[in-house]
Amino acid sequence: MTDAERLQHTIDIAHEAGTLIRDARQGQDFGYRYKQGQELVTDTDVAVDRHISTRLDALFPDEARLSEELAPDRSALASEGPLWVVDPIDGTVNFAHGLRHVAVSIAWVVDGRIRLGVVHAPFLDETFTALAGQGAFLNDQALHASRSGDRARSLVGTGFPYRRDSRPPLMRRLAAVLDRCQDVRRNGSAALDLCDVACGRLDAYYESVSPWDFAAGWLIAREAGARTGHLYPCPDGIPEELYGENLLAASPGIHAELADLLRRADAGAFEPR
Ligand code: IPD
Ligand code: CA
Ligand code: CA
Repeated sequence: MTDAERLQHTIDIAHEAGTLIRDARQGQDFGYRYKQGQELVTDTDVAVDRHISTRLDALFPDEARLSEELAPDRSALASEGPLWVVDPIDGTVNFAHGLRHVAVSIAWVVDGRIRLGVVHAPFLDETFTALAGQGAFLNDQALHASRSGDRARSLVGTGFPYRRDSRPPLMRRLAAVLDRCQDVRRNGSAALDLCDVACGRLDAYYESVSPWDFAAGWLIAREAGARTGHLYPCPDGIPEELYGENLLAASPGIHAELADLLRRADAGAFEPR
């Protein structure tokens, strides 16, 4: 199968998942629970994961899968060969609250390199796609990331982990970005934040997330011309492209300056004006 055929299958599966998500919202009949006391998960997250897993299994029976609800075992990250990385609903809190920033995120990775990414937003009618080395697209239109070199005028996306005890250190980063950039957005879907970087709607995005939150969007942002990288060196044993800690995707002209700002904030060395 060619990469283009594989991409088309993935788009079809993401659209089917999007229909399930839209139908579930219309019925408003999904149950929910909290993982580890804080993290919301609805029946729809699980049902959509099941649909995507069944479809991928039928089409690619020998290929491994990492998916947030049904196959979250991260030991899969260390394996060689093909790996599907799936978030059935990125933006679950938005979904449950009737907000529109919700996405299906599917990436295909080979030997630790992201080769294909699809992020579909069913309530926005937007489907973002990329194949490594072949550019990024929104509903078939080529995407171009921001070329801004003006950190002070940059609009920056980010997010916060569900674990409340992980949040206080991030307040230092937030204070630094609010002081030195135009403003901040917290839209509630890491996958769509990265696609917004790919479109140039956001000039930058930083966060620490799980592999399924960012893998597809990471490729899409990079293929659109954004610079993608980590604030600190990555540990051995996990492919760098699937390591979700301390991510920064940004216009190439401000990436280094923003990375420096965030590291200074982490070190407590940032002085607000
Ligand atoms: C969450 C979203 C959010 C990010 C969280 C993620 P979920 O994913 O991507 O924007 O800030 O860290 O966990 O739980 O909606 O799949
Ligand atoms: Ca997610
Ligand atoms: Ca999810």
